Amino acid sequence: MSKVIFITGGSSGIGRSVGEFLIEKGYRVYGTSRNPDKVFESKFPLVAVDVRNAESIKAAIAHVVAEAGTIDVLVNNAGVGITGPIEEIPAAEIQNHFEVNLFGPIEVMKAVLPQMRKQKRGLIINITSIAGYMGLPYRGIYSASKGALELITEALSMEVKGFGITITSVAPGDFATNIAAGRYHAPVISGSPYEVPYGNTLKEMDTHVDTGSNPLQMAEAIYAIMKDPNPNVHYKVGAFMQKFSIVLKRVLPDKLYEKMLMNHYKL
Ligand SMILES: NC(=O)c1ccc[n+]([C@@H]2O[C@H](COP(=O)([O-])OP(=O)(O)OC[C@H]3O[C@@H](n4cnc5c(N)ncnc54)[C@H](OP(=O)(O)O)[C@@H]3O)[C@@H](O)[C@H]2O)c1
Repeated sequence: MSKVIFITGGSSGIGRSVGEFLIEKGYRVYGTSRNPDKVFESKFPLVAVDVRNAESIKAAIAHVVAEAGTIDVLVNNAGVGITGPIEEIPAAEIQNHFEVNLFGPIEVMKAVLPQMRKQKRGLIINITSIAGYMGLPYRGIYSASKGALELITEALSMEVKGFGITITSVAPGDFATNIAAGRYHAPVISGSPYEVPYGNTLKEMDTHVDTGSNPLQMAEAIYAIMKDPNPNVHYKVGAFMQKFSIVLKRVLPDKLYEKMLMNHYKL
């Protein structure tokens, strides 16, 4: 029997790439999309889920379990970006961001855990971000949602280990996907005190994603984790300097690290 993989956000980018790779390896893959009918040529079935809607999550998981009998691996991947000066991002956009990137993934885990406890096995891979290891300028809300998911991963790992369930996080660096096109950008307001620095940083961020790594690298990393009988709690995948920035944060004094980041973003 092939293992059953459930990937939230399987319609594009990293989720789609992971699903296609695992299909090739012989796994049975289910993905999700808010609008499965609009997705062009998916190589695996897509179930309708908006992670802000707990009922849609429960229904999708019930559907997969009824059809495939089990869920062996959850790749908790659906997520969006958000940029802007914290002072200028509307509260409703911050709320919405946390619903998609943090509360949604928590609800997905809550919905799949009863099945995994029943099976006495399961693997949950939370897709976070290297940006979740540090507060990045004009990406503070995104850094916070992903950093929080890293901590939830650590806590939940200890809570469910005794049930035979493994929880891990994979933090990508910059990957060439649709994320920049789909993210909420607070407008660069003419005359705002943030107009010039935010405008410049935004251009820099979009270039990073457009010239980012191939999502296939994420698929290979996830496959390696699935094959590992005793995975780590955290993984980072991406260009050397992006991963090294986490090491630097650990070893450098705060003031020096902040200066380094500000130089990088030309602030
Ligand atoms: N690309 C990068 O450089 C990068 C870096 C670090 C972390 N990440 C993380 O990697 C994950 C995948 O992102 P990606 O780069 O592959 O972006 P993407 O190409 O834009 O894909 C995002 C996926 O999330 C789904 N999604 C968005 N909002 C949703 C919602 N409310 N409910 C359910 N599904 C939703 C989308 O599906 P539908 O639109 O079809 O519903 C889509 O399949 C995200 O968690 C992202 O934060 C990406």
